[in-house]
Order: sequence, then C-alpha cells, then structure tokens
Amino acid sequence: MGRCSKALRLASLIFILARASNATRYSIVDTTIGGVLAAKRIQNDDTSEYVETIVDYGGRVEDLVLNSRTTGVQRKVLLTHHDNATAVLENKWWKGMLLLPWANRIAYGKYEFFNASYQLPVNENTTDPPRHNALHGLMPGRKLTVTGSQITTSSASLQLSYHFDKPLPGYPFTFDVVINYTLSESGFSMHFTVTNRMESFPMPFYMGWHPYFVCTAYKTYVVLDKCTTWNHVELNTNMDPTGITKLYHGLNGSQPIGGTETNPTFFDDEFKPVSPDSPECNVIQTRLYDVDTSQTAVLWQDSSFRLVHVFTGSESLFHEDAIAVEPMSGMADAYNNHDHLSVLSGGETWSGSFGVYVE
Ligand SMILES: *[C@@H]1O[C@H](CO)[C@@H](O)[C@H](O)[C@H]1NC(C)=O
Ligand SMILES: *[C@@H]1O[C@H](CO)[C@@H](O)[C@H](O)[C@H]1NC(C)=O
Ligand SMILES: *[C@@H]1O[C@H](CO)[C@@H](O)[C@H](O)[C@H]1NC(C)=O
Ligand SMILES: *[C@@H]1O[C@H](CO)[C@@H](O)[C@H](O)[C@H]1NC(C)=O
Ligand SMILES: *[C@@H]1O[C@H](CO)[C@@H](O)[C@H](O)[C@H]1NC(C)=O
Repeated sequence: MGRCSKALRLASLIFILARASNATRYSIVDTTIGGVLAAKRIQNDDTSEYVETIVDYGGRVEDLVLNSRTTGVQRKVLLTHHDNATAVLENKWWKGMLLLPWANRIAYGKYEFFNASYQLPVNENTTDPPRHNALHGLMPGRKLTVTGSQITTSSASLQLSYHFDKPLPGYPFTFDVVINYTLSESGFSMHFTVTNRMESFPMPFYMGWHPYFVCTAYKTYVVLDKCTTWNHVELNTNMDPTGITKLYHGLNGSQPIGGTETNPTFFDDEFKPVSPDSPECNVIQTRLYDVDTSQTAVLWQDSSFRLVHVFTGSESLFHEDAIAVEPMSGMADAYNNHDHLSVLSGGETWSGSFGVYVE
C-alpha cells in the first residue's frame, strides 16, 4: 500500500509539473531587427519553435522555425533578412511580405472600378525585362499596432492591426486590416480580417503572402494538392495573365524541380484549381519535399485562398536557396480580370487563413 501511494504521489507530481510546464510553454516577446525595427516573437519555450513578425514593417513574417510533426527535428522554414534592417526596408525580394490589398501585379497600375479609372504607382518599372506594373500592394513601410494577444496551454496568438484611413494614390478606399499570428502544436497560421471602413462605397480586394521556403530547390519536390486537377495561368511578357489557362499535370510528385544547384528550373508561375469548391479542396495544401533534409514543409490555404504562385528564382537572382510558394486569394491582376476578386461593400468584412507546418 505504501509503495502504491508513493507511486501515486509521484505520478500526480509529474502530472502537476507537466501541467505547470504546459502552462508556461508559450510566450510572446519583444525583439528588433538590427536594433531599429520593432518586432515580436511568438515562441514555444519547450520546443524552441518560434515565429517572428516585423511590427514596424508591414507585419511581414521575418522568421519561422518549426519542428517536424513526425520526427521532432527542427527546421528553419523561411528565408530571413539576417537581422539587417537596411535589407528589410529595401524590401528587394518581398521576403515574408503580406501582399494586400492586391497581390502580384496590376497591369500598368491601371484599373477601372465602377464609374472611375485608377492609376496606382508603377513600382515595377524595368527595361530588362520590360515590365510596368503595380506590384504587391500597400504594406511595405507600414507600422502596425499590437491590438491583442492570447496565450493558452496549447497556443499563442498575437494580433496586429493597421488602419488605411487616408486615400492613397490609385487606391482611395479606407479599410482596416487585422492579422492574427498563431503558433500552436499544429504549426504556424495567420488569420486575416479586412473591413471596408467606408459607409457605402465599395472597394476591390485580394491578397497574398510571399514566403520563401528554405530548401535545396533543384532537388525539392513541389507538389500541388491532389484534391483537384490544376490549370496553369498563362502570363504575357509583362507578367500579367492573358486569360488563357491550360490544364497542367506537372508538380505532381514524380520529379523534383530540377535544373542545377545554382540554376534550378525557373518557375514564376501561377496555378488555379479546376475544382476549387470540391469538398476535398476545402483546405488546399502544397507540399515541398526536400530530398536533402527528407522533410516536407506544407503550406495550407483555406477556402478564401484558392490560387498558388510558385517562384524558384531566389538562387539565381540573389543566391539564397529557396522556393517561394505564395497563397493568393485572387489571380494576379484581379482588379482587371476579376478572377477571384473580392468586392467589399461599405462596412463589409472579408476573412481568410493560411498556415505552415513541417510534416
Ligand atoms: C544589409 O543589407 C544591405 C542592403 O541589402 C546591404 O547593402 C548590406 O551589405 C547588408 N549588411 C550586412 C552587414 O550584410
Ligand atoms: C456611378 O455613377 C452613377 C451615375 O452618376 C451614380 O448614381 C452611382 O452612385 C455611381 N456609383 C459609384 C460606386 O460611384
Ligand atoms: C518608368 O521609368 C521611367 C524611367 O526609368 C520613367 O520615365 C517613367 O515615368 C516611369 N513610369 C512610371 C509609370 O512610373
Ligand atoms: C485573434 O487574436 C485575438 C487576440 O489575440 C483573439 O481574441 C481572437 O479570438 C483571435 N481571432 C481569430 C479569428 O483568431
Ligand atoms: C507528372 O509530371 C511530369 C512532369 O513533371 C509529367 O511528365 C508526368 O506526365 C506527370 N504525370 C501525370 C500522371 O500526369
């Protein structure tokens, strides 16, 4: 009997300790980029997993470290700016940027919406190759505000907000963005709510994210979700969709990206599900299986995010090995082609989520 109660006491002590460590497992801490830009880190103090977002620069996801769900092995998931604030502000490659209220390109920065014509600043204006577009939205340079946080025994989440309360060139609509960053046992996820702040006027909206997944690109299998067949979106030389799509059977797991270590096969390509509303596609998952680490990073997108853009140019353009897989809620240039464009009426709220885990 003595032995039994001793064992019981030990068991309940272990239980209490486990609960105590669970209770303190997550934390959210202040940090900086190069001592200059305010950032927040959501971390799991038991597993050392964390996600870092730059509050002072568009809420971009600067760093993500996750453990494999199956092996527990830790992985640095995304490319970072190596604590270099100058590089963050320069934003040359859009690493981890949130792309809204449009993602990818608006051709020549021009669009029409109801009765009016709009001209956005053309921030992609190059001669070689010749391109003239408004690229990737309005988040660069925005200082967000921390508007909430929540820590439970199984997750931690941080809420950042930004009010677009002044008319901007080519986008005179006012709206609020609320972003939740959550770290939990199932990985990292982001949830967006976007609210039209005008009383009766509509606004055009779609968004995306630009994470670069660290991998040995030419040896990595990028696999589109098998819940649907896929269409490949044809782009013109200005990188804007022509409207033509073609059934696409690649990125199916039969072969890696290919090419060479310094020059992986080039993709800057957009894919659209043929059956976006099939029940199996409720959540669309794109897998990146890296032969070198035997790990698979998974990007999932909820039903608000139906398109996937794949970009393999990081090694050839700036010598960092990675593949960008970008969730998008609408097609590139949706202000003009209206493909999966959201029109928010006065006061209306849009929401959507995506996330990442390591299998
Ligand atoms: C930081 O980034 C800037 C801009 O890309 C670059 O010129 C500079 O060399 C970087 N600094 C360091 C210490 O790497
Ligand atoms: C468009 O113009 C018509 C006629 O001038 C006007 O009644 C309507 O309110 C306008 N709509 C918007 C969204 O500006
Ligand atoms: C694009 O750049 C050229 C020169 O580099 C400039 O003349 C032109 O005004 C720019 N276009 C826009 C729309 O910014
Ligand atoms: C967002 O985060 C806030 C505070 O952290 C929390 O109260 C709210 O429930 C979260 N909302 C969603 C949709 O995750
Ligand atoms: C899978 O993709 C490869 C190209 O990457 C292609 O040759 C092959 O036909 C595809 N398989 C199927 C079943 O579509």
